[in-house]
Amino acid sequence: MTDGAESMRTIIYSGKGGVGKTSVAAATARRCAKLGYRTVIMSVDTAHSLGDSLDVKLSAEIVTVEENLDALELNIIHEMRTKWSSIKDYISAFMLSQGVDDITAEEMAILPGMEMAAALFYVLQFKDGGEYDVVIIDTPPTGETLRLLSFPDVSNWYIDKLFGLLKRMVSIARLTVGKMIDLPLPSKEVMDSLEDIKDNMERVKEVLEDAGSTTIRLVLNPERMPINETMRSYAYLCLYNKTVECLIVNKVLPSDADGSFMASKLEEQEGYMEMIHEAFDPLKIMYAQQLRTELRGPESLDMMADMIFGDSDPAELYAKTSPMRFETENGIDKLYIKMPFLNKDDIELFRGSNNSVIVKAGDQKRTVSLPLTLSDAEMLGAEFDGEDLIIKFKRKR
Ligand SMILES: Nc1ncnc2c1ncn2[C@@H]1O[C@H](COP(=O)(O)OP(=O)(O)OP(=O)(O)O)[C@@H](O)[C@H]1O
Ligand SMILES: [Mg+2]
Repeated sequence: MTDGAESMRTIIYSGKGGVGKTSVAAATARRCAKLGYRTVIMSVDTAHSLGDSLDVKLSAEIVTVEENLDALELNIIHEMRTKWSSIKDYISAFMLSQGVDDITAEEMAILPGMEMAAALFYVLQFKDGGEYDVVIIDTPPTGETLRLLSFPDVSNWYIDKLFGLLKRMVSIARLTVGKMIDLPLPSKEVMDSLEDIKDNMERVKEVLEDAGSTTIRLVLNPERMPINETMRSYAYLCLYNKTVECLIVNKVLPSDADGSFMASKLEEQEGYMEMIHEAFDPLKIMYAQQLRTELRGPESLDMMADMIFGDSDPAELYAKTSPMRFETENGIDKLYIKMPFLNKDDIELFRGSNNSVIVKAGDQKRTVSLPLTLSDAEMLGAEFDGEDLIIKFKRKR
């Protein structure tokens, strides 16, 4: 995996609060570096604990932790100030013109999705730079991460709107030069910045949906709530065509734990392990035991990496297909969408505008763009085959 930018591997760890995402991400990063992969680990959580876990001081700029291992605790305010200042300044000016107080980078930084967008832009930067083989992302607890991972889909819609609005403002201003306007106009630099963001978002979406290089690993504990939450995340991520490649069950009690309290705990755990298999097989599942000592610092992280990966390659790709794919069979076009834990009754389908199909699954709704070849195709219906929902189309000619 050292043939440059093309093969850069991106691994995103996600899971409920406190299950061990940061620890597992740090353990993976250390092991990757040790094996010679040029590795960078990035923490996207606002409450950073990556530095603590690695037992090094990290910052909003990339630092080298040791040979082959760089790390970054993303700070959105720092990103706004250094990378997006022209947009920030414009929005501030715009707000002032509307009688709203000057808006600060700190205030803009709280816009939803900004943080993950910034993180994903780093992924593009790393890909273009070609200086890393593996990028590992440690994320905040589930809910937010899921929203953030679907951000490129949703954000384009916002950016398109914003763009349209600004373009109209510019053209109105041209027509009425001199007379207008109280509104400050966006400079070319601002428009260019926005254009860049839009282009980058397109690329982010591509990178995120490239099952051959970008995958999500879900971390959980053998307990009811994390299992339920992991099931929901898995279903959601499939709907957004993000590839979940494995589960990492962390904090497994060692079977030699003694005492009667432990005995009943172990029995309970066994039940949860069965539940995990029932729900997720044949997804790859890996394990890490609950350590008796504090899990912090290089030594314990390396112990954790041993438990999870043994001698295997921590950057290995465990799943090779996307949850969503097209196939054509006997003149019928089929869209496959992996939809675990759902059945036909949970799903509603509509033909959307702009050659799309709208999939409603439980309380989630997703617009899936269809290939151009299906622009005038008729939607014939849908059926389940195992976990896959298959939507069928027939072309007009
Ligand atoms: N296998 C383990 N054995 C012992 N302690 C562990 C293990 N895994 C994690 N821990 C401890 O559990 C706590 C939470 O772990 P960690 O910070 O990695 O979880 P997280 O999912 O990143 O949490 P957050 O959602 O707050 O970001 C830490 O104190 C960590 O040291
Ligand atoms: Mg964490």
